[in-house]
Amino acid sequence: MVKICCIGAGYVGGPTMAVIALKCPNISVAVVDISVSRIQAWNSDQLPIYEPGLEEVVKKCRGNNLFFSTDVEKHVSEADIIFVSVNTPTKTQGLGAGKAADLTYWESAARMIADVSKSDKIVVEKSTVPVKTAEAIEKILTHNAKGINFQILSNPEFLAEGTAISDLYNPDRVLIGGRETPEGKKAIQALKDVYAHWVPVDRIICTNLWSAELSKLAANAFLAQRISSVNAMSALCEATGADVSQVSHAVGMDSRIGPKFLNASVGFGGSCFQKDILNLIYICECNGLPEVANYWKQVIKVNDYQKTRFVNRLVSSMFNTVSGKKIAILGFAFKKDTGDTRETPAIDVCKGLLGDKAMLSIYDPQVPEEQIMRDLSMNKYEWDHPIHLQPMSPSAVKQVKVTWDAYEATKDSHGICILTEWDEFRNLDYKRIYDNMQKPAFVFDGRNVVDMEKLRQIGFIVYSIGKPLDAWLKDMPAMA
Ligand code: NAD
Ligand code: UDX
Repeated sequence: MVKICCIGAGYVGGPTMAVIALKCPNISVAVVDISVSRIQAWNSDQLPIYEPGLEEVVKKCRGNNLFFSTDVEKHVSEADIIFVSVNTPTKTQGLGAGKAADLTYWESAARMIADVSKSDKIVVEKSTVPVKTAEAIEKILTHNAKGINFQILSNPEFLAEGTAISDLYNPDRVLIGGRETPEGKKAIQALKDVYAHWVPVDRIICTNLWSAELSKLAANAFLAQRISSVNAMSALCEATGADVSQVSHAVGMDSRIGPKFLNASVGFGGSCFQKDILNLIYICECNGLPEVANYWKQVIKVNDYQKTRFVNRLVSSMFNTVSGKKIAILGFAFKKDTGDTRETPAIDVCKGLLGDKAMLSIYDPQVPEEQIMRDLSMNKYEWDHPIHLQPMSPSAVKQVKVTWDAYEATKDSHGICILTEWDEFRNLDYKRIYDNMQKPAFVFDGRNVVDMEKLRQIGFIVYSIGKPLDAWLKDMPAMA
């Protein structure tokens, strides 16, 4: 029986290995992590991450050919194939701070693999890493190898949170990069055989190592660029009376452009886009390509601009002050169907409103109060100005209340911000909400989920990203 071990039981390691276990009953899969609480959660009824369909897969395989363990060394030493799916955040200190990927976790995993291995291994980069990381990992492994042969493969993951299980069942492509030597080709084939259990072979692409590593950064940069492009258009739509949904539809009908990923929003969030573009920018700068770096920087700048623009629009519409006003925040996760809040635009929007002394009442169906308070209290690392901004002040904590119900959150509020596109926000009883709010009652829809006309008929003043403005909003222009 082939044995797989995955180091890192996070958003990628957990679901990816669960699906491999489900689709490959002849393979034994161990997912290991240094975090005892995470492993305990994977072994319990309350999994550490919320992902539609995940629980069913884990329940089917756990204890049969899928195991979660903190005994990292045992499972690594027994494995034939080792996936490394540890976190690779942006460095916040030292050389490259604010842009470069922090490979501390990766390096420590590689050194541990070298230490405990007693047989030949295929080591698979699952984490998103800078181009040429495989070379560094290869050096660490071979210099500590004790006669063992290590083959390094790059197999970046393209799943998106909230749809991870269906993305893994039916990937657009699986990418495997490896050395172009006979041993490298054999390792590629071994990994291909794993995926071929359920992925059509014409969707398994094999490349050299550097192409695979760079393709992952490039794919995320292209996706984020589409969002910043449509968000930039949304500002122009508001200024001209065009409707961004109509523009996106018309643009996306061009088969060369395509309709997906053109939804204007309050900004993209998530653990990947900003981090991976910063990483790409750093690589460009290190390779003497400042023009290319500046091109990609603009994608993040527009994203920051979109969040600031949203806060400015809200404050200026409400007579230029939200001091002491109750603002309901509907949605805190970075997208629907996840409880993940990493880099969620809600953090910046909430901090902006708190800075203007608003009283926030926050509701998200999946994000617990402790997580929201932790996110708002944490230092934010500003990528463009490598200094740590002050966290939410102890007095500002009193301005935040977290509720478990949208009606409770909006009761007596002056305005509502929709920051995550949870389905339930489309179907709330807005008449009931309106009746329980202060007047004039505002809705600021950062995800274009509400029916503007219906809400206007109820009596709301409605702002939706990139949509023609109410007369009210036209009279209260937002400062850029
Ligand atoms: P995560 O933070 O959820 O999980 C990483 C896990 O690795 C943590 O549980 C941590 O405790 C563990 N870990 C760190 N060092 C370790 C070590 N030496 N030994 C054992 N365990 C260790 O991160 P994630 O979201 O799963 O992302 C992992 C990688 O995959 C990142 O490089 C990310 O860029 C990439 N990625 C993420 C996504 C996504 O949607 N989250 C998608 C594609 C790629
Ligand atoms: C992304 C990539 O899609 C995935 O391939 C990669 O493996 C990891 O990074 P993820 O961050 O989980 O996945 O979610 P994604 O669906 O890409 O959304 C990212 C952000 O962009 C979210 O905040 C989302 O709301 C926003 N978004 C997405 C938009 O604002 N408009 C869109 O049209 C699409």
